[in-house]
Amino acid sequence: MDLFEYQARDLFAKHGVPVLAGEVIDTPEAAREATEKLGGKSVVKAQVKVGGRGKAGGVKLAATPDEAVARATDILGMDIKGHTVHKVMIAETAPEILEEYYVSYLLDRTNRTFLAMASVAGGMDIEQVAEETPEKLAKVPVNANEGVTIEKAREIVALAKFPAEVAEKVAEVLVTLWKTFIAEDALLVEVNPLAKVANGDVIALDGKVSLDENAEFRQPGHEEFVDHAAANPLEAAAKAKNLNYVKLDGEVGIIGNGAGLVMSTLDVVAYAGENHGGVKPANFLDIGGGASAAVMANGLEIILGDPDVKSVFVNVFGGITACDEVANGIVQALQLLADKGEAVTKPLVVRLDGNNAELGRKILSDANHPLVQRVDTMDGAADKAAELAAAK
Ligand SMILES: Nc1ncnc2c1ncn2[C@@H]1O[C@H](COP(=O)(O)OP(=O)(O)OP(=O)(O)O)[C@@H](O)[C@H]1O
Ligand SMILES: [Mg+2]
Repeated sequence: MDLFEYQARDLFAKHGVPVLAGEVIDTPEAAREATEKLGGKSVVKAQVKVGGRGKAGGVKLAATPDEAVARATDILGMDIKGHTVHKVMIAETAPEILEEYYVSYLLDRTNRTFLAMASVAGGMDIEQVAEETPEKLAKVPVNANEGVTIEKAREIVALAKFPAEVAEKVAEVLVTLWKTFIAEDALLVEVNPLAKVANGDVIALDGKVSLDENAEFRQPGHEEFVDHAAANPLEAAAKAKNLNYVKLDGEVGIIGNGAGLVMSTLDVVAYAGENHGGVKPANFLDIGGGASAAVMANGLEIILGDPDVKSVFVNVFGGITACDEVANGIVQALQLLADKGEAVTKPLVVRLDGNNAELGRKILSDANHPLVQRVDTMDGAADKAAELAAAK
């Protein structure tokens, strides 16, 4: 989960990384009071989860509270690389910036370790530094058990050739940034720029943090970072039910067991759709291996709740969970939905194959639900589902 800059700033502050004061707001008028609190001037910064805000006009200095309101008016609602600005941070203005550096920690999956990166050529696009002047970007592996002690931090600082007068301060920042990285279960913490300012201080002026969602269970505080406004409502509902669901823009609802099978189902449906007016898959939904009736009901409920869905293709290859269990799951799921008063009005095409397919098919035939059709091949079922979606 990627965080907004203001959220990264809050985490940095919590662990002792030097940051400036900042307040997030979502109306232009609120910029006035926030700027007054900062002594009458501020920096107005667009909060979007995409880089290059400055270049896009999303970072502006305001010399007075009135100017802050004007800049916030310009920036709120602005589109930055497809991201609409809904919030701005009113940040304290840094003393004169003398130099801009770069520091980060990340999980280096290729080398199965953590990696520290540091450069005296910060402020700009670090990918560009890495490409054009790789000698200016120090990359130092960090042993997970040892972490970044002050000694290790000094080693990183020396390798990145920080000027002597800031070396110790940068090393201290590296230690606090490491604390942030570990304590928050982050996959990335990045400061760009880490600025050397007129009074000699070193301050994190912009931050990026990406949190490891696998650590959610031990990070209850991270719940507040979830951007509910940005989430698709169907995806949010699916997530709440622990379903692997991604909304797509077609008309054929898809349910399958196993990510690989669902991916190929999307392809087969898109292909079949070409013969039926170009209908396409409406979603990805993997109900996983042990698809109980309850899981099937949850999945069907999400898919049937999508107004774009015209037909549903349930594609199951029985494995450890045999087809008869899945078939019972489908029958019970339809019953569960009916009991909840959520009448199923869209046609379902079901293809069962694999372990106990015959028995599963018999269960569906016996249940004889008016909206359920059985088609026993994947291509045939995809074609049927596409045809039904096109006919609606
Ligand atoms: N609080 C501040 N006070 C003074 N100057 C600032 C402040 N915050 C940022 N700046 C200046 O604006 C520049 C751009 O800011 P920042 O790094 O936050 O945005 P960005 O790099 O354009 O955005 P992104 O990191 O999303 O690409 C900084 O390099 C710095 O020179
Ligand atoms: Mg930046």
